Amino acid sequence: MENIRNFCIIAHIDHGKSTLADRLLEFTGTLTNRQMQAQVLDNMDLEREKGITIKAHAIQMNYKLDGKEYILNLIDTPGHVDFSYEVSRSIAACEGALLIVDASQGIEAQTISNLYLALEHDLEIIPVMNKIDLPHAMPEEVTDEIVDLIGCKREDVIRASAKEGIGIEDILKAVVNRIKPPKGDPKAPLQAMIFDSVFNSFRGIEVYFRVINGTIRKGEKVKFVSTGQEYNADEIGVLKLEKQPRNEIGVGNVGYLISGIKVAKEVKVGDTITHPGQEGEAIKGFENVKPMVFAGIYPVETSEFEELRASMEKLQLNDASLVWEPETSAALGFGFRCGFLGMLHMEIIQERLEREFNMTVITTVPSVQFKAYLTDGTVQDINAPSEMPDVTKTERIEEPYIKAQIISKAEYIGPIISLCMDKRGVIKNQNYLTTDRVELTFEMPLAEIVFDFFDKLKSISRGYASLDYHLIGFRESDMVKLDVMLNGDRVDALSAIVHRGKAQEWGRKLCEKLKELIPRHMFEVAIQAAIGQKIVARETISAIRKNVLAKCYGGDISRKRKLLEKQKKGKKRMRQIGTVEVPQEAFMAVLKID
Ligand code: GTP
Repeated sequence: MENIRNFCIIAHIDHGKSTLADRLLEFTGTLTNRQMQAQVLDNMDLEREKGITIKAHAIQMNYKLDGKEYILNLIDTPGHVDFSYEVSRSIAACEGALLIVDASQGIEAQTISNLYLALEHDLEIIPVMNKIDLPHAMPEEVTDEIVDLIGCKREDVIRASAKEGIGIEDILKAVVNRIKPPKGDPKAPLQAMIFDSVFNSFRGIEVYFRVINGTIRKGEKVKFVSTGQEYNADEIGVLKLEKQPRNEIGVGNVGYLISGIKVAKEVKVGDTITHPGQEGEAIKGFENVKPMVFAGIYPVETSEFEELRASMEKLQLNDASLVWEPETSAALGFGFRCGFLGMLHMEIIQERLEREFNMTVITTVPSVQFKAYLTDGTVQDINAPSEMPDVTKTERIEEPYIKAQIISKAEYIGPIISLCMDKRGVIKNQNYLTTDRVELTFEMPLAEIVFDFFDKLKSISRGYASLDYHLIGFRESDMVKLDVMLNGDRVDALSAIVHRGKAQEWGRKLCEKLKELIPRHMFEVAIQAAIGQKIVARETISAIRKNVLAKCYGGDISRKRKLLEKQKKGKKRMRQIGTVEVPQEAFMAVLKID
């Protein structure tokens, strides 16, 4: 145990976490040059394209210092707020953290929120200032920020360039010398914390764990505390670049377990692995992750419903955080109401459905979960506008609130505060990190962040502001259901739950947007927004005139069009609603309202 060091890297997006991890692997010979592949830790296609480490992984390195051999376990942490619970479990599996700060950017919102998480778990923090090779690096200013933030000495901040390979050895030495070896009792009942899992379609789910007490051995029976399920430890081992099987993984160490588990839901991040019969206690801090954002997913072709169901089932096998149930929409037919961890998660699922399963789907307006307190004393979760209860039966509606941390250059404070206030936010704190950089704390409804908040924040701050948030609870709000009608027919898939104070304006803007997005038809299309029976806005799309049509639909061309349409089928996201053709973008129009 004396020779083990467990650590993670915490950083804001793009500050160089993956690049630095590659360098550490290279330096310790875990990765030879031949194997060197850009950013090996992000090995999902999608991840690499998005440049975001979506799923945490772990990798073991051997390192020799002053004649002693050390085992260094690097536990990777996802870098996006959607996955913050996973970050907290990865952090809980470590004794230390490298805090990476970009020398040209300074501290950002995620640097701080992850740092707080690490401090809560008493991790030793090793500050690393990365990208010192950049001509516009500001090493002195950024060192000041780091010293202020964590209260370390200036000389404790390691200067590095992951790109040029500067400072890598200093970092490894600091990992060995500054981070404490793990504690734990090898003779106590087994307690191992699951911090991640990966789906393997051949061998079942690979479970990544950190042993807190006791030892786990190949072939023995193990039990997952939260689910009560028992399995046989068919294979255990350590993760180098590949999996290396071992006969046992001892206290303090990190490893993987394969036991033929087929369904991701049985493996919960944060759960405790123990031995049935002589059970170790559950490790504190376990939570069942809950979806934050809900949306309907429908096939473009109604006939593809069963195929979509099969694809969703397969997706769920390897993504335990995705939840769904069948839903029927008068407008879109049969589909699924899905719960996601956040907007990024939703995008990922949609993309995976298309790429891995070749489905073309329509996603409806995302919504957060509201709680309705009814007059009969019951509480109902509302995951879709159609579930809004009758006003006469509702005592009050509550919506989820978050605490948002925004870090920005001081010159953008004004516009940021007005943006947040417009999103029903209340400022709670304003803290200058340096004379030029300020940290703002707001409390605001999650529903306001789900829509285009982040894009707006970036644009008003010229890309300088960073955001991080976490849920703080539910609060009473005056929410109403806003309906949309096309030629008098209510289109349930276009409804949204909005705050009463904004409903009228929303209705107006939504109608304007829909007018832009819905193509002209041979007849007039009336778009109306209504709250209950009251129409709050109206737009009209005029009909295409006959003579224009005559030109387009001439003999040959019409045949060509048909052909083209056939080819495009499956890729064209249009749905026929009543007599009106509605494109996918229209279902997401709410997201584009200013
Ligand atoms: P996420 O996975 O998105 O959180 O990003 P990350 O923190 O892992 O950052 P990543 O390693 O992907 O690096 C982001 C960008 O910075 C890439 O374009 C890297 O090539 C670049 N980069 C990383 N380290 C350095 C460095 O030391 N110097 C310079 N100049 N660029 C660097």
